[in-house]
Amino acid sequence: MIQTLSDIDLSKKLIKWYSTNKRDLPWRKTKDPYFVWVSEIILQQTRIETGIKYYLNFIKKYPNVKLLARSSKQQLLKTWEGLGYYSRALNMHKAANQVLSVHEGVFPKDYFSLIDLPGVGDYTASAISSICNNEKQGVVDGNVLRFVSRLLKIEDSIDSLNTKKQIKKYITEKMSSSNPGDFNEALMDFGSTVCKPKKFLCNSCVFSLECKANLSNTVKNYPVKSKKNKVVKKEMNYVIIMSHNEKIFLNKRSDKGIWKNLFEFFLIKSNNKTVTNELILKNLSKKFTLKSNKIKLIKSLQHKLSHVELKINFYLVKIKDHKSKMYHFSSLEKIPFPRPLKVVLDDIL
Ligand code: ADE
Repeated sequence: MIQTLSDIDLSKKLIKWYSTNKRDLPWRKTKDPYFVWVSEIILQQTRIETGIKYYLNFIKKYPNVKLLARSSKQQLLKTWEGLGYYSRALNMHKAANQVLSVHEGVFPKDYFSLIDLPGVGDYTASAISSICNNEKQGVVDGNVLRFVSRLLKIEDSIDSLNTKKQIKKYITEKMSSSNPGDFNEALMDFGSTVCKPKKFLCNSCVFSLECKANLSNTVKNYPVKSKKNKVVKKEMNYVIIMSHNEKIFLNKRSDKGIWKNLFEFFLIKSNNKTVTNELILKNLSKKFTLKSNKIKLIKSLQHKLSHVELKINFYLVKIKDHKSKMYHFSSLEKIPFPRPLKVVLDDIL
């Protein structure tokens, strides 16, 4: 059980702090659940500065749920290109179609309808229902876990579902009943601008005299985490295959695993063997007629995913021509690519 602070008026202090420190974010100008949903899905794995840019572009392209539902997946993935975690976009597409079929096109704003939508979990349903429907549902994201862990000096790991549930219960009890949405957004802003992971601003914190971690000078020890984020290193090798008539070979990835449904260059399957020019030639000659045996390594870059650190090597070869899967350069602007592949493509074209 977490030890709470019974005499602290968390809500009043937080709302007062928020009234002068609220961040001016574009989705805060509306209580329309469609726009708030778009912002919350984008922000799930994305920094706020990047999130703003993608949010504005997204709502310009998809100003309502009907247009989103009718979009092709490929167009949607192109809009999402570079943001990562592409299953978020594919789930949004499914959710938009569900809103049309189940809710007659009216985007729901109550917690229980929201949590039924693909890609919407407790955090997102709580954020939208509190902001748009005044429901008392505390949001628990990384910022909130960190702030409450320090305030109450919670010794249990924040990776545990039980700790998350207790923190949710605590903040839901403490939250303002007149304005639960403001309370939640204040909590998130406070966590990301004051109670920051490393550069915490305890000297200017309005809770400095109540925060158990600050009072015992142990802020840096919280939150407690049990899981060490184990990072696996992997290497990938792509061959960019071009023909003389401004075409490039592309393969559409399957709808499983990373980068589902995005397009990629020719991937060399090496079964953990070192990739040599001979191996590349062997792979290519089964399918293509090469102009020469020249293979040029044009770039190597690192790309971090949540648990994997990828080293990606890019080779370039020229071929005579090929019948299938060759795309003209002019069509590439409509095709969605994983970010590192887009970077290389932009470099060479
Ligand atoms: N992070 C995710 N959602 C947020 C919101 N609505 N306000 C501030 N930070 C957030």
